[in-house]
Amino acid sequence: TTPKDLAGLRMLITAGSTWEYFDPVRVITNPATGLMGKLLAGQAVRRGAEVAVVAGPGVTPLTERTGLVWDTVVSAEEMLARALVRLPGMHVVVGTAAVSDFRPAKRAEQKVHKAAVGLSWPVEPNPDVIRTLAEQADPGTLMIGFAAETDNIIESAQRKRVDKKLDAVVANRVGLGVGFGTGAHEAWLVTADGVEPMPGHHKEETATALLNWVARHRPPA
Ligand code: C5P
Repeated sequence: TTPKDLAGLRMLITAGSTWEYFDPVRVITNPATGLMGKLLAGQAVRRGAEVAVVAGPGVTPLTERTGLVWDTVVSAEEMLARALVRLPGMHVVVGTAAVSDFRPAKRAEQKVHKAAVGLSWPVEPNPDVIRTLAEQADPGTLMIGFAAETDNIIESAQRKRVDKKLDAVVANRVGLGVGFGTGAHEAWLVTADGVEPMPGHHKEETATALLNWVARHRPPA
């Protein structure tokens, strides 16, 4: 049986990709599947936590009936709005979502047809969900981000951690066959104390190691 070492802990997790529509049938998105967020949520619930997931539209919700609430949203703006509703009272916030950094600056009311050759479409920046949550969270809330990198993995992650005012960043290598949409994972935990390689080569093990770190650093209940 799993020890309930996260009992009493309330955790908010963003997961998956966001979809940014530019006409009624087309979106800007990315290949994130939400696997990391789902593994974290499932394990955390089994370890006794109360978990709220705010996930993008491509993610099939987990079916746990106790200890889990699940919101499906579409765009980055909706993800942020929903996460802000869930934020009060959270002890830990984990941003696993691959939020689209841009959205179309306008949305066509009708499908854009092929004839529009040489088409260009203005985009505008989306809010940074985890950064905004870190700004709005109660002091002492443990804030954790992810950083998918192809190079300068640890330096980039440390910069993002400081810049977004996070306590920890899971720095992971992405590339062919590693990262997006696969279980394969190579990751480091980057905190103010330094860098530790995370054990294992699968997201399941990354989730366990991160929750072990949370159990050791959880804010006093
Ligand atoms: O800056 P970068 O996108 O690499 O940062 C990744 C981290 O920031 C992840 O935790 C991701 O969930 C979060 N993020 C976010 N909103 C964005 C972009 C990234 O929450 N618009």
